[in-house]
Amino acid sequence: MTAEELYNRLKSVQPGSVLCTYSMEKVEQMLPLINEINERKAAQDTVILAHAYCAPEIILGVADYTGDSYKLSEDATKVTQKNILFSAVRFMGETAKILNPQKNVMIPGPLTGCSLADSITAAEVAALREKYPDYTFVCYINTTADVKAACDVCVTSGNVMKIVENLPTDKICFVPDRLMGKNIIDEMKKRGVKKDIVLHSGFCYVHQTYDPELIQFFRSQNPGLKVVCHPECQPEVALLSDYVGSTGQMVPYIRDLPAGTPVLLLTECGLVARMQYEYPDKQFIGSCSMCKYMKSNSLENILETLRHPEKAEHIELEEATRVKAKKCIDAMFHYANL
Ligand code: 13P
Ligand code: SF4
Repeated sequence: MTAEELYNRLKSVQPGSVLCTYSMEKVEQMLPLINEINERKAAQDTVILAHAYCAPEIILGVADYTGDSYKLSEDATKVTQKNILFSAVRFMGETAKILNPQKNVMIPGPLTGCSLADSITAAEVAALREKYPDYTFVCYINTTADVKAACDVCVTSGNVMKIVENLPTDKICFVPDRLMGKNIIDEMKKRGVKKDIVLHSGFCYVHQTYDPELIQFFRSQNPGLKVVCHPECQPEVALLSDYVGSTGQMVPYIRDLPAGTPVLLLTECGLVARMQYEYPDKQFIGSCSMCKYMKSNSLENILETLRHPEKAEHIELEEATRVKAKKCIDAMFHYANL
């Protein structure tokens, strides 16, 4: 890749404000890292999967696949390379390993947690099962392999509503996201679906900060504003939004808006950056909310992982846990494709 090619990809990206830009100088500094990563991944039989929240230089410079959790977990089943370098957080790497036990899955960033995945353990699921013995346990994909192994069906933000509606039970315990859980309850009411849904107490520290006042403020400043939010946001925010969906579902919604539409995207700003690159005819407003976990992935630590794979964090799972967790994910693919 040349500096001009990279600059042309990054020049329209201003994730936080007009002051956050990629200059030619910055691009020239990144280029040697990007070129070495791309050469090494080809030579070392490695594919790079990157969640949409990662930095623009990762998404546009070195990623082979990008998207939301659901798409990446499907992509992980199709890759032919022996090594998967997953620029994301640990639970996503675990999902790739659950689906591809024969592959070597590595996570480059030092902060591999997630406020949702860290909010519940398998022991807590076991305690909930004792309390709610006849409930079906549905877990968000933002959970550890241990928690998935303790649950019945996994969901992503893109398929959660369809799966909860389709499940042949009216008693559901949904873990760990309380805010997404409340959004599920509201959506089921709207659809006229009767389900008793018990919730846990987790939340995403990025998405829970948005509030209705923020939407009202930006609407008052921007006539014709379209507000797009993630289902990890508070129900009051979802109610005031024009569209609620996973990062993957937001993309076609934004693509189809008329040119010039002002858009307030209430999710991590890695996705805002990607949208600015893909749909420069839309006007993205607001500030940047960053996930410190996703943003701990960088060109530097991706390159370090490729230079010294022996020092990298490799995902290892006990086979019994992996098999149970896979059942939970397979149930997701089954109900999502009904
Ligand atoms: P998606 O499922 O939309 O990729 O979201 C994952 C996530 O971590 C959102 O905060
Ligand atoms: Fe986890 Fe929130 Fe970061 Fe998504 S944005 S990875 S839910 S902490």
